[in-house]
Amino acid sequence: MSTWWERGVIYQIYPRSFMDLSGDGIGDLKGIRSRLDYVQALGVDAIWISPVYPSPMADFGYDVSDYCAIHPMFGTMADFDVLLAETHARGLKLILDFVPNHTSDQHPWFIESRSSRDSAKRDWYLWRDPAPDGGPPNNWLSQFGGSGWELDEKTGQYYYHAFLKQQPDLNWRNPRVVAAMHDVLRFWLRRGVDGFRVDVLWHLIKDDQFRDNPPNPGFKPGDPPHHVQIPVYSADRPEIEDVVRALRRVIDEFDDRVLIGEIYLPVERLVAYYGADLKGAHLPFNFQLILAAWNARGLDKLICEYESAIPDGGWPNWVLGNHDQKRIATRVGPDQARVAGMLLLTLRGTPTMYYGDEIGMHDVHIPPDRVQDPFEKNCPGMGLGRDPGRTPMQWTAGENAGFSSVPPWLPLADDYTTHNVATELEDGTRILTFYRKLLELRRAQAALPEGRYKPVAAQGDLLAYTRGSGDDRLLIVLNFGAEAGRLVLTDEHPPQGRIALSTCLDREGETTQGSVDLRANEGVIVSFRRPEAVR
Ligand code: NOJ
Repeated sequence: MSTWWERGVIYQIYPRSFMDLSGDGIGDLKGIRSRLDYVQALGVDAIWISPVYPSPMADFGYDVSDYCAIHPMFGTMADFDVLLAETHARGLKLILDFVPNHTSDQHPWFIESRSSRDSAKRDWYLWRDPAPDGGPPNNWLSQFGGSGWELDEKTGQYYYHAFLKQQPDLNWRNPRVVAAMHDVLRFWLRRGVDGFRVDVLWHLIKDDQFRDNPPNPGFKPGDPPHHVQIPVYSADRPEIEDVVRALRRVIDEFDDRVLIGEIYLPVERLVAYYGADLKGAHLPFNFQLILAAWNARGLDKLICEYESAIPDGGWPNWVLGNHDQKRIATRVGPDQARVAGMLLLTLRGTPTMYYGDEIGMHDVHIPPDRVQDPFEKNCPGMGLGRDPGRTPMQWTAGENAGFSSVPPWLPLADDYTTHNVATELEDGTRILTFYRKLLELRRAQAALPEGRYKPVAAQGDLLAYTRGSGDDRLLIVLNFGAEAGRLVLTDEHPPQGRIALSTCLDREGETTQGSVDLRANEGVIVSFRRPEAVR
């Protein structure tokens, strides 16, 4: 029997941008609650909510100043409890974001730590003496630009921050830090949350000798500045395995919860995070559909390589977008957005969707005076800013897209009057209908959430595979190109099939005979069951 987090589809909500009920232009918990019916009708199984904890918002909630409370901007703990109860009442799960690598510089732990070299919490963070020339202790960089070290004038030492200087890194070699963070997990698990997405899980432990990172020979101008070196000593250290195991033990103190790790690493290192004996993360997030070039042959290869890299008993997962990346409709273009959705929701493994992708939202141009993201502010004009993919959910064609009663914190897309939930629900040809039908099919056909994956030989712009076996088998054929294509089926498939879904929503029930024809940018799911056997 598979678990909910194996069968289910995860839907990421960026809370600042989902729904504002308090009228300040920023989304909140009551807003999310008011849209649970929408989420349920969409057909997903779990929501993951980016951080809603108290925070100075230097990195929009990824700088936490209290792990066991709710930021007043998002509501109260009572609002959270109601949201959780109502989520569960609908049969949905709720996953929180856990940010263990760093706190806010306004967290009481850091305030105490920086107060003096003798502070009881000094060793909760990574403090080092200056280099002999007075500069930073080593060459480690911040992912948001510049040195990863900040000098504290008062105590004469530097502290390390992998992200903003307002996000000092915790010292995960200190057992007191570990114990305190485990208690944070227990606090929320006792409240009833169903699991965590762990922020930058591969960063938690750094080299104990603080050795310099080597230069990256593959660095090209225009790459994010920190790619100039290979983070051999500042991330993905061997000791991380024990840290993850210990997190997992806390999760396993409770029934049926999930541990998901945010990890940007090559596949062979990524799969190590399942842990020896699968006692690590349940789902080390797999971002390959975000990072890889969008073409059939390359994707075919990476899917097969990922499938064979997963340890025995490990469960795969796929992510199409998140709040740190360009939106899928912008990355692959609107014509391919449905093909991408069909790929995400038919591969073997837990899919994670990003809010708004189901209505075809694209990146929004942010004028310089509206920039919010510190990454864009630190590295302007390089296309690294994350605001364009974080704009408010487009609910209606009305004022402020039905997101808020006041102008929202980030600009709305120009086309929100035509691309919004209400308008799309009235038109059965739109991408929202496609996503709802696809998610419905996933629920109805066990082959999609659970069946085995088998590649099917295809050429050029076509990618094909089957899911499941025997009568339950489905054939998925996706056209990544702008020309029509045909997949000729070999004898291993029954000669006659029936189209269960096309990305164009106009071929359901059509029979296929020995081959499958696709229009440009089309994907289809073919069922080989006898029609009366299709539920
Ligand atoms: C990854 C998060 O997804 C991103 O939004 C954040 O800026 C960094 N971690 C730092 O917490």
